[in-house]
Amino acid sequence: MADIERIKALLGTHADFPKKGIVFKDMFPVFQDPTAVEALITNIVHHISSTYNEKIDVVVGLDARGFLFGPLVALRLGAAFAPVRKAGKLPGDCARAVYAKEYGEDVFEIQKDAVKAGSRVIVIDDLIATGGSAGAAGQLIKQCEATVVEYVFVMELDFLNGRKALDAPVYSLIHL
Ligand code: ADE
Repeated sequence: MADIERIKALLGTHADFPKKGIVFKDMFPVFQDPTAVEALITNIVHHISSTYNEKIDVVVGLDARGFLFGPLVALRLGAAFAPVRKAGKLPGDCARAVYAKEYGEDVFEIQKDAVKAGSRVIVIDDLIATGGSAGAAGQLIKQCEATVVEYVFVMELDFLNGRKALDAPVYSLIHL
């Protein structure tokens, strides 16, 4: 599909960033091309609305790159947006989950009142590596007594098999 190829061609690749041995995939260059951003959002929204009949209540974006397109997807779906942030950044009553990532360990939080019990949630991020951060987001959503309908990513590093760590369907636009 021409749209996907256009997005793929814009992705940056940086060896040994932020640590030796990591090949970092950079999606920021995609935002230099509004047509590519439009294609990206349209593809994701079309996938979600053609796959799930029931309304999506909340799109949850992961710190930090999930904040860039999560709200755009939420707006088009007529859904709320809620951020998952690194520990200590969100005020109020927060749920908390620890996770291991491709390069280190971290703690995620979500404001409990941002995801009501019984909500249908899409979790979105730019990339799935080992699935650690998305899995932690899933735990946060469970703590809110809500349901992850699907995990959505722009890029998936297939060789790391991160989708195996997740307990809901996974959709990725680009497989690397
Ligand atoms: N997050 C985890 N692994 C990554 C990678 N290889 N590139 C970009 N973001 C990442």
